[in-house]
Amino acid sequence: MASGIYRWYEKRLLREVKQGPIPQHLAIIMDGNRRYAEDAGLSYAQGHEKGRDKLEEMLDWSMSVGVKIMTVFAFSTENLRRGTGEIDYLMDMFVANFTRLADDPRVHKHRIRVSVIGQRDLLPERVTEAISKAEERTRDYDGYFFNLAIAYGGREDILQGIRRIAEEVKSEKMRLEDITEESFSRFLYTGDHPDPDLILRTSGEERISNFLLWQLAYSELYFSDVYWPGFRKIDFLRAIRDYQRRIRRFGK
Ligand code: IPE
Ligand code: MG
Repeated sequence: MASGIYRWYEKRLLREVKQGPIPQHLAIIMDGNRRYAEDAGLSYAQGHEKGRDKLEEMLDWSMSVGVKIMTVFAFSTENLRRGTGEIDYLMDMFVANFTRLADDPRVHKHRIRVSVIGQRDLLPERVTEAISKAEERTRDYDGYFFNLAIAYGGREDILQGIRRIAEEVKSEKMRLEDITEESFSRFLYTGDHPDPDLILRTSGEERISNFLLWQLAYSELYFSDVYWPGFRKIDFLRAIRDYQRRIRRFGK
């Protein structure tokens, strides 16, 4: 397909999308790295690398339309059941990527706060060290928020919130009647952020797979057939346009 036509279409879509409401918080289930690799005759490792490159692009696209908060599912607690070869490879990628992120000029220029949500104690020390470095260097930023869910599970998120809020009640810092949807939300890993407006999943699977279970109560869901590494800017813009059409339908 002529790339000129793509570019023209992309520009037109971008212009259209920028006129409508933009999700403030976008959540993404990045799925299909290995299937993409298989179709393209690549190794799973190359598939994950292409997925990583796509995430970097996605961060640019999101900022370019005005998304302020992006939360991506990079690695679930269920993913820990994969073969040790693949897990080790992914862990090495996390180390390299968080180390690079900490020094990425884009991160400092746009004042992007990097955070990891999930069960850190399940990750090797080399990974948590690299994560801490990226988090510490960006701790004071508030231009954009980039949350990566790693060793994350939605039910576990709720449980750790329950444990922490119970602790508050036990130590009499909170009363039982102070536990509300709003106050409880602050005990979740995403406590500092509003709930996601839009959740996007690639690869054709129409499942939530234990991602932000509590937080998605009112989110719009969008499923794309494309494997994550093959996701293009026009696919992203179409997702936003779809979101805007749904908002308009339920709006005034
Ligand atoms: C998503 O791609 C990335 C991770 C879960 C780490 P997958 O690795 O799930 O690829 P598929 O879904 O098997 O194709
Ligand atoms: Mg998958």
